[in-house]
Amino acid sequence: MKPRVCIVGAGPAGFALAADLQSHGTDVLVYSHPKHRRDATAVLSKGYFEATGAISGFTMPRITFDMRDVVEFSKILILTVPSTGQETLLRLLKNFDLHQHTIIAIPGNLFSLVAEAELNAGCILEANLSPYACRMEDGVLQVFGMKRSFSIAARHKTPTAAFKAKIQKIFPQELRWCSNVVEVSLTNINGVFHPLMMLMNAGRIENTGGDFLLYCDGLTRSVANAILAVDRVRVEVGEAFGFQMDGVVETSNACYGASFKDLVDLAQNSKPHRTLKAPAGIQNRNITEDVPDLLVAWYGLAQKLGIDASPLEAVINLASMTTGTNYMESGRNLKRLHLQNQSKDDLLEQFSIGSA
Ligand SMILES: NC(=O)c1ccc[n+]([C@@H]2O[C@H](COP(=O)([O-])OP(=O)(O)OC[C@H]3O[C@@H](n4cnc5c(N)ncnc54)[C@H](OP(=O)(O)O)[C@@H]3O)[C@@H](O)[C@H]2O)c1
Repeated sequence: MKPRVCIVGAGPAGFALAADLQSHGTDVLVYSHPKHRRDATAVLSKGYFEATGAISGFTMPRITFDMRDVVEFSKILILTVPSTGQETLLRLLKNFDLHQHTIIAIPGNLFSLVAEAELNAGCILEANLSPYACRMEDGVLQVFGMKRSFSIAARHKTPTAAFKAKIQKIFPQELRWCSNVVEVSLTNINGVFHPLMMLMNAGRIENTGGDFLLYCDGLTRSVANAILAVDRVRVEVGEAFGFQMDGVVETSNACYGASFKDLVDLAQNSKPHRTLKAPAGIQNRNITEDVPDLLVAWYGLAQKLGIDASPLEAVINLASMTTGTNYMESGRNLKRLHLQNQSKDDLLEQFSIGSA
């Protein structure tokens, strides 16, 4: 029998994964939330979608709007909604007995810490990034780039070699197993790139409706300097836990098998980045997901560890002032992650390298 997985989240990243997995012989069911059905409706109206770029060809995915179908179809559920949508899914999923299911959140952004008290799941895994750089318009999927590898870890227990092999079999990309979900979160470098590129180009985004290239035009030397200041905090937090941390450029290079020498070189010359247009407005997940669910979480960890997190605080505050949303409050702060009562030593014991 063919392996089966459910992809829970019917946007570009979910459909790119569906196309990739189906072409590798996996039976896929895609779930679309009934209130978030734009791309699913476009695909259903044709009965297929066409992918161009790093994935090409036609895919006829099975699509459901009913979470019961998802839970029955497969014991592997891959969440591909933005982390800001994970709690909507959590409210649905917690009505089911999932103790035999494995849930893989792509990206995780510490979903397992938010969900573990409510979700009766056999295993929750978190990945750092979607393996595909892609967009979808009118049911046509454009895949600008595909990562060679991505990071993944389990919330509880060190996975056995057999379990890791079973999960690896699902994905065409190489999985880099991390010690735990905090290490995975810290390798989601979207938190380093996106908010600052958006905020430092806010006027241009609003004047042009996003009619410029976000990386190629928007990531200039001074934007790069600010990005590197945020990156230093991310690296310092990781090193405090004993993780082997690479800088943002090295992390991106490793994902795509590239060798850019710095951020400006990457912005000008990286194929998956240099052609990406800016979003049409500031209320975009480059801010609305990456500030609350990455920067706020990293800020909370840095504070507990006694690390100077002022560059993160500056970006979070600027994003909050710009959008009128208090991200420190609404984001994945230590309270939402159920870590507020932990001491520095508790945190280090729970998440440092070698802790089980
Ligand atoms: N696409 C990429 O190139 C890329 C690259 C790196 C990382 N990622 C990450 O991968 C994830 C998915 O990316 P994507 O481009 O597929 O994102 P997306 O189009 O913004 O969202 C994926 C799907 O989730 C739905 N959704 C949004 N909020 C929801 C909620 N509260 N409840 C239920 N469903 C909800 C969306 O519906 P609506 O259309 O109605 O919002 C869409 O159908 C994101 O976390 C993104 O940051 C994507």
